[in-house]
Amino acid sequence: MKVNFFLIVILVLILSACTKNKEKVIPSEVTKETKMTNEVYSYFESGSNDGVMSVPENYREWDFLGAWAIDGDKGSKGIHNVYASPGAVSFYQKNKYFPDGCILVKELMNTHTEYLSTGLVSRANENEGWFVMVKDAKNRFPDNPLWGDGWGWSFFEAGKMYKTVSTDYKANCIACHVPAEKDDWIYVDGYPVLKLE
Ligand code: HEC
Repeated sequence: MKVNFFLIVILVLILSACTKNKEKVIPSEVTKETKMTNEVYSYFESGSNDGVMSVPENYREWDFLGAWAIDGDKGSKGIHNVYASPGAVSFYQKNKYFPDGCILVKELMNTHTEYLSTGLVSRANENEGWFVMVKDAKNRFPDNPLWGDGWGWSFFEAGKMYKTVSTDYKANCIACHVPAEKDDWIYVDGYPVLKLE
């Protein structure tokens, strides 16, 4: 009798452990895990091998990296939203660097500021252009002045997503990014999500 009782207790324990493990493997988590390890978007594998950059049409569906609020007299006068192409954030979390071919988009928004129930609040209003960077770990375009120091660099005016007005990243961009040189020219401190594992 006594032995049987212990057997039953052990059986119940084993069964409950099995159920717990089963609960962990729900389909959505499996998909998420697969995405995180395998699906890292690359500009170079998307048919764009000529070094011509544009603002990706669907960048707002990409991973949101973070936002910068630019100080104004009253509230913020500008909000910069930064997005990363699929897989770049989870890759960075694991490896501490951006994957070859990933794209970062900084969207410039002007603001509307008013008193709401939370206080004086600024929100994004209209788009004022985009900064785009494409990670190039292989120095693919040594003769193209928009590419170098590990990235492709371009600015796009509002309403003109397909044609950059940048001519030379050394003249247009890099001086301002020197404070972030040790982090591969990216202001990573503005993106807490990159520090998660
Ligand atoms: C006036 C200085 C300045 C210039 C010029 C400049 N940047 Fe930046 N950039 C910054 C600063 C500061 C940030 C982060 C804070 C912010 O947005 O205000 C930033 C952020 C970015 C980001 C988001 C990723 C990151 O590094 O945090 C991209 C993408 C970017 N810049 C691309 C460019 C490109 C491409 C050019 C040239 C066409 C350029 N920038 C020129 C100062 C500058």
